[in-house]
Amino acid sequence: MRPPPSRRRKPRGVSVGLFALCLAAASSLQSQGVSLNIPQAIINATVKEDILLSVEYSCAGVPTIEWRYTSNWGVQKKIVEWKPGSPANVSRSHQDRVCTFDNGSIQLFNVGVSDSGYYVITVTEGLGSSQFGTIVVHVSEILYEDLHFVAVFLAFLAAVAAVLISLMWVCNKCAYKFQRKRRHKLKESQTQEIELQDVEC
Ligand SMILES: *[C@@H]1O[C@H](CO)[C@@H](O)[C@H](O)[C@H]1NC(C)=O
Ligand SMILES: *[C@@H]1O[C@H](CO)[C@@H](O)[C@H](O)[C@H]1NC(C)=O
Ligand SMILES: *[C@@H]1O[C@H](CO)[C@@H](O)[C@H](O)[C@H]1NC(C)=O
Repeated sequence: MRPPPSRRRKPRGVSVGLFALCLAAASSLQSQGVSLNIPQAIINATVKEDILLSVEYSCAGVPTIEWRYTSNWGVQKKIVEWKPGSPANVSRSHQDRVCTFDNGSIQLFNVGVSDSGYYVITVTEGLGSSQFGTIVVHVSEILYEDLHFVAVFLAFLAAVAAVLISLMWVCNKCAYKFQRKRRHKLKESQTQEIELQDVEC
């Protein structure tokens, strides 16, 4: 005799429903759970500077962090991907130029004008909920902003020149005095010789 199937199906259906509910609750908690804080969304830098793309995420587990770069004319590249606590997978284009931090930040060394563009971070948690943010980077050549450095350098050169000129003046004066003394002595010895000759005669 077979037991009526409906009696067994009913509790199973309830448990599946409960499981789905829990999953939905968990995933909604998780999508709230991944949060990303970007204190500075625009970074102005000059050539050869090191820049920190500073972010801070918070979520329940250990996420995967990925940074992508999009240039101003639309070329896209992956820079780095890692899980905090494990070694980072750095793309060949940024090998030795990037350093990762556990809070999701990265540092770029020795930037050039071609590093200008959009840097997009994606923080993905285990079950697929993710959060992304963008930092815009402008890298400029050293221009008028740094003219005051040039001015300081020129002032320094002028000061050095002034010191050198006064040193030369002092040396010249010393040399002149020395020469006069020597001439004086020479004259004295000549007169002495003449006197001596006179005595001999
Ligand atoms: C960056 O430069 C732009 C102009 O190129 C300027 O409008 C902006 O205020 C600067 N931002 C910072 C943080 O210096
Ligand atoms: C992330 O960590 C780096 C290195 O410890 C720190 O310099 C930076 O300020 C941190 N970012 C934020 C948003 O806290
Ligand atoms: C690193 O990234 C490359 C390209 O995205 C991928 O093919 C490779 O499997 C990754 N390696 C690790 C250890 O994740």
